[in-house]
Amino acid sequence: MAQLITGGTGFVGAELARLLVERGESVVLFDSAPNYNRIEGTENKAKVIQGDLRVWPEVFNVIKQNNIEGIYHLGSMLSVASEINPWASFQVNVLGTMHVLEAARLFGVKELVFASSAATYGLGTTGVITDDTLQRPTSMYGCGKVYCELLGQFYRRNFDLDFRSVRYPSVIGPGVRTPGVAQYNAWMIEETALGKPYECYVTEDTKAPVIYFKDAAHCAYKCYKAPKERIKTVNYNVSGVTPARTAKELEQVVKRFIPKAKISYKPDPNTMSFFRNLAVDVFDDSKAREEWGWEPLYPNLEEVVKDFIQEMRQNAKRYGIG
Ligand SMILES: NC(=O)c1ccc[n+]([C@@H]2O[C@H](COP(=O)([O-])OP(=O)(O)OC[C@H]3O[C@@H](n4cnc5c(N)ncnc54)[C@H](O)[C@@H]3O)[C@@H](O)[C@H]2O)c1
Repeated sequence: MAQLITGGTGFVGAELARLLVERGESVVLFDSAPNYNRIEGTENKAKVIQGDLRVWPEVFNVIKQNNIEGIYHLGSMLSVASEINPWASFQVNVLGTMHVLEAARLFGVKELVFASSAATYGLGTTGVITDDTLQRPTSMYGCGKVYCELLGQFYRRNFDLDFRSVRYPSVIGPGVRTPGVAQYNAWMIEETALGKPYECYVTEDTKAPVIYFKDAAHCAYKCYKAPKERIKTVNYNVSGVTPARTAKELEQVVKRFIPKAKISYKPDPNTMSFFRNLAVDVFDDSKAREEWGWEPLYPNLEEVVKDFIQEMRQNAKRYGIG
């Protein structure tokens, strides 16, 4: 039996593939635009199938033909792309998820972990976000993700598909090219590690909860492995570095590793209006901790920055750096 990762050569998917292959699992990666650099080292151990979540026969076929036992459904259009093309976002994120759930039901897949997002909480949410905070997103991306969380719960209740989801805050790591409001966290580390000056597009006191990409992969795996009877909440907040740290605090940590780093601030008014409406101090993941023992491997910025720089140096090709 094999595990399927949709979006399997993406930022988180490729890291999850590495983790599963290291544990001896048989892995199939389904992706519309396979990135072979990202899966460097696992490319001969994981089967890559190019396919599109929007095309139901391609989704059904990959599941029927590969003896799929479980699915990590990570394939998605991310937030900025979804705002630019909400119609495509609906097709990929909502319809694509329906295709995955339906194929899982019809071909007897046991379990499915879905990657959701902190973007399911709406603008106007500040302070502490818990699993009980009202989810009322305003973005196309957030609307799609919250619908899929609920759709997954429907399949869990009605068709005995063991659906679970993890809601990531902003995922940071080397080689992120997909734009996102909180990606300044990743780019501040990457650009300065490459010896370039970095002009940050938020104010020094802006905070955003983040999770390191290795933790995002580890967390999906840990959620998948949790015994069924432990799963009560079903859709879980998961945090990495908590509480959220400011851009200035990140700068100070970066300078411990790169003393000559040149970092300046030129806040973008649009991005700042977003952060004024979604100022999160704590992305509370206590349910994931209580129910299935979630605990990040990289809970503080120092460890994240140190590992990030080391990864860039050791695996530059993998991340398309340099
Ligand atoms: N990166 C973040 O900050 C973040 C935050 C919260 C949630 N998430 C969620 O985590 C998951 C993984 O995100 P990521 O950071 O690895 O993003 P990514 O963009 O690096 O990876 C997504 C992958 O999905 C693939 N994909 C896109 N459209 C597809 C389609 N129609 N058919 C098949 N494959 C398709 C892409 O080619 C890509 O490889 C996503 O579901 C995302 O919504 C990410």
